[in-house]
Amino acid sequence: MKLDQKIYTERRRALLDSLKEGSVLVLPSATEKVRNRDCEYHFRQDSDFWYLTGFGEPEAVLVLIPGREEGESVLFCRERNREMEIWNGRRAGQAGAVKEYGFDQAFVISELNEQMPGLLDQRTSVYHTPGANKEFDQQLWSWMDKVRAKERKGGVAPEQIEDRDKLLHTLRMIKSPAEQALMRKAGEISARAHTRAMQECKPGVTEYQLEASIHHEFAMSGARHPAYTTIVGGGENACILHYTENECELKDGDLVLIDAGCELDHYAADITRTFPVNGKFSPEQKALYNVVLDAQLAAIDEVAPGKPFDGFHKAALGKLVEGLLELGLLAGNKDKLIKEEAYRAFYMHGTGHWLGMDVHDVGHHKEDGESILFKPGMAVTVEPGLYVSPDNQDVEERWRGIGIRIEDDVLVTETGNEVLTAGVVKTVDAIEALMG
Ligand code: GLY
Ligand code: MN
Ligand code: MN
Repeated sequence: MKLDQKIYTERRRALLDSLKEGSVLVLPSATEKVRNRDCEYHFRQDSDFWYLTGFGEPEAVLVLIPGREEGESVLFCRERNREMEIWNGRRAGQAGAVKEYGFDQAFVISELNEQMPGLLDQRTSVYHTPGANKEFDQQLWSWMDKVRAKERKGGVAPEQIEDRDKLLHTLRMIKSPAEQALMRKAGEISARAHTRAMQECKPGVTEYQLEASIHHEFAMSGARHPAYTTIVGGGENACILHYTENECELKDGDLVLIDAGCELDHYAADITRTFPVNGKFSPEQKALYNVVLDAQLAAIDEVAPGKPFDGFHKAALGKLVEGLLELGLLAGNKDKLIKEEAYRAFYMHGTGHWLGMDVHDVGHHKEDGESILFKPGMAVTVEPGLYVSPDNQDVEERWRGIGIRIEDDVLVTETGNEVLTAGVVKTVDAIEALMG
């Protein structure tokens, strides 16, 4: 499942129409990263770059120049090279960039330094966000210097830097129907993989074997890559929030926490489920699990158009602290405990984040100091948890080492929300029934 190439051309057109008159936007592709010696990590295109191009090669730069007669949408990319393509894979080349990807004009990437000063000359502002790619920043400053050096011959370099990322990220926050369909599918595939992990889990299986089942299910469903490094944490490993070693054997009597989501055509899913390795919750595991589930359900209800972004975290916190009080893991007054953040010994992360092309997707949380309000087309994760450290001496031993998180992906609709990852069960009864 893929977005039609014409969607990227339409995005560039719409963006060109919204750029300031006389401006220019520059955006480099991602760069290849060495894993060891001459082996590279699998290349993943930069999300902003992909959003505007659908072009998956490294060593490319997009330049958008509103009103330029020779072409407004320009791509620098690698040239075709028979020898290189035999060894390392296909390249679109400049003709392909125009024909297959709809750019007005394409140049060879090795001409970047030569061509860019000319493309910047006479422009009043440049859309760029310094900081993310220092090498590219340096290149851009050097092209500007070249234009300035020609001032006496009439060269005029852009004086203003406009925030490119803010512009693009505001667009990326609202998912179009086509993007929603991809995210729905990514959610379905990921839910199926979690269901399979529950069915295959039993004492003696290793964390990395469950990881492999999940990745296999992703691939067999058409999603080759996970959207982020899969977490499979048995027992107290679940209390390490970003545990990715995934190397232990799963033990009878423990819970296992799995945080995994596939990436489908550059869109992420992000699901966490926590379930008993042997298929049956102990009384303590069940009690804590139900506190987290209550918190998650209450939080999901707060994801709706017009509601503030910080509301779902507050809803989850309220339920978690109530639950911890009821079970005797905290003592005192609920509001005071929340104010003093006494829950942080058990809950040290936020309740969710934007979701989209990046798992921790771009977008702001506040506007003019106020929490922004949800709008249809926005997508978030809702992922409360409780983690009782194995060395927490303030609680009875029976609670120690239990880590639980429940995470779903929630799309804001016109009337409320849609849980994109509802395909995998999460109540105690349904999990036990599935595993039994
Ligand atoms: N999988 C990363 C997260 O849940 O935020
Ligand atoms: Mn997650
Ligand atoms: Mn998440």
